[in-house]
Amino acid sequence: MHTPILIANWKSNKTRGDALLWLKKIAEELKVMQQTQKTIILCPSFSLLSNVHQYITKENLPIATGTQDISAFPQGPYTGEVNGRQISEFATYSIIGHSERRELLGESMATLEKKVQMAQANNLTVIFCIQDKTTPVVGSMDIVAYEPPMAIGTGRPDTPENANAIASSVKAQNKASYVLYGGSVTSRNVSRFTAMDHIDGVLVGKASLDPLEFIEIIKNA
Ligand code: PGA
Repeated sequence: MHTPILIANWKSNKTRGDALLWLKKIAEELKVMQQTQKTIILCPSFSLLSNVHQYITKENLPIATGTQDISAFPQGPYTGEVNGRQISEFATYSIIGHSERRELLGESMATLEKKVQMAQANNLTVIFCIQDKTTPVVGSMDIVAYEPPMAIGTGRPDTPENANAIASSVKAQNKASYVLYGGSVTSRNVSRFTAMDHIDGVLVGKASLDPLEFIEIIKNA
């Protein structure tokens, strides 16, 4: 079995002060746990990325960084965009195709394809989100996250069995090496997902905001 991949997706939350407090608490707890073999990826807002990366590097924490989005354009005259080259200074992963961006910002498959290209051209590992088993995956990904919108932020996760069946079919179609589940994951239910044969980890939104809850997720995964 693969060691679980645990992603904290902070979404549009936290100031710089909040982020540093979170990291300090996590660092203390990880020290008590004497490190962990699990892959931990933190995805903060762009405004926090440089500070978060600096803190993690300085304290030598076993945490990788990722972004919640990436520009579909290269560097150049694209006001407001953060491009892959800029991201690659501070992060190694990029979430692409989250349902909130598809729904609220109208991101189309054509846009997502360009984003994937930009991420890959800058050596970022894509975490590609799908909403159900019919969502197309761009090419073949390292990591796909199955996140049914009805389970996101609602306190009503999908069943581990159904998530496992979808993860299995994504892998059978060679769409991903690793498949994660996301949607109302907490420290209480995480082990039911990570115990499944085809689920390689979790993408956590709300429950990742509290460092102590996220530490419990790391422990229980
Ligand atoms: P949630 O969000 O854990 O708050 O349900 C998950 C996600 O959208 O990545």
